[in-house]
Amino acid sequence: MNDNKRIYEIAAIIRGYFFDGESSLVVLTRAMDSSELMLSETLLTLSNEEAASYIRKTIDEFVKDKGHYPSNIHIEKTKMGFVLGNTYDEAHENRPLDRKVDYIGSSKRKDIMKGKISVVTGGAQGFGAGIVKGLIEEGGIVYIADMNQKGASDFANQLNEEYKQTVAFSLYVNVSNEESVSEMIQTIAMTTGGFDLFVSNAGVLKAGSVKEMSLKDFEFVTSVDYTGFFICTKFASQLLALQNLGSNGRYMSDIISMSSKSGLEGSNKNGAYAGAKFGTIGLTQSFALELISDNIKVNAICPGNFLDGPLWSDPEKGLFVQYLNANKVPGAKTLSDVRKFYESKVPISRGCRVEDVMRAICYIVEQKYETGQAVPVTGGQVMLN
Ligand SMILES: NC(=O)c1ccc[n+]([C@@H]2O[C@H](COP(=O)([O-])OP(=O)(O)OC[C@H]3O[C@@H](n4cnc5c(N)ncnc54)[C@H](O)[C@@H]3O)[C@@H](O)[C@H]2O)c1
Repeated sequence: MNDNKRIYEIAAIIRGYFFDGESSLVVLTRAMDSSELMLSETLLTLSNEEAASYIRKTIDEFVKDKGHYPSNIHIEKTKMGFVLGNTYDEAHENRPLDRKVDYIGSSKRKDIMKGKISVVTGGAQGFGAGIVKGLIEEGGIVYIADMNQKGASDFANQLNEEYKQTVAFSLYVNVSNEESVSEMIQTIAMTTGGFDLFVSNAGVLKAGSVKEMSLKDFEFVTSVDYTGFFICTKFASQLLALQNLGSNGRYMSDIISMSSKSGLEGSNKNGAYAGAKFGTIGLTQSFALELISDNIKVNAICPGNFLDGPLWSDPEKGLFVQYLNANKVPGAKTLSDVRKFYESKVPISRGCRVEDVMRAICYIVEQKYETGQAVPVTGGQVMLN
């Protein structure tokens, strides 16, 4: 097995150990000169299950003996080390960890995201960018993973400056490419050991009549909106399962797919998108059944139309402009007529907003007794049977 892969597996197991029920501590991986706790290099030859039990036993003994966590952990004869902190920057500065060792309790509602590490694909704009901001406002750290590398990195820099500490990282990813997603997950493991929440948000839309749509366009939509969720869950769940081994089953993490109200009912001349979003819910239910044994919950969110977002409101390519030009809304003469038409379909009379989606995310993470569900956030436009 390649060395990097083994190290990242160990990093995830160690991070899992340090989950204490309130927030996950950051485990930063890097080379170190000195160490407080030395793990034997034979660790690298053990199976994951054996490694997890060795790591737990060794750290437990350290804590029992000294009454505090080790401030750093080193693997013998390697350049690999782990330092701990309540924040990324704290870990970097290698400050002693000010934390009780015996606390395993449930989080208070207001602290549900505090210290948690999330990955948001498609986080450079639209719903994804709003979710990134929302998670950071709730006290979390976020990987902004997007094909738009510059957009993601500018956004991460802006957030880190605003918060005067590291609250965001940017990563390039193409969610429809296995190699790219695998690399992204390895980079995450080598930076913070793992994460707590994966929001599979990246998505594309190409509308068109079934009589006219090219197979290429159909497959493009499917490859991002449907296959992309499979690929992301495949690699994300491998890492999360390792954390769970480290925590001995007390660690519960989340994968959330962004489906849509078009994943709950058909969408006229938009079959590729609606089909992929329906399919996402099928994957969500199936993955949930399998992954609960790794303490991973898998749920979907089904937002209504995000009328203020770029997909709808972009002045050149947005759906308002497209629908006005295509006369899709009978009698509409202005962009505002098109908007009013879509608002009038919603019982709550407005488009879906980021804060509506954020409430659903916080609910899913806080709720420890639900998995495989599709949570509607549609203003009443689509109701569950
Ligand atoms: N906008 C809506 O009205 C609406 C409604 C319901 C659900 N959704 C869903 O919410 C999610 C976000 O929608 P949005 O409107 O914010 O989209 P958006 O087009 O504004 O942003 C999508 C982001 O995903 C990135 N992206 C696209 N393809 C990618 C790929 N292959 N790999 C990595 N990144 C990729 C883009 O660069 C962009 O930053 C999508 O899954 C969408 O289907 C949107």
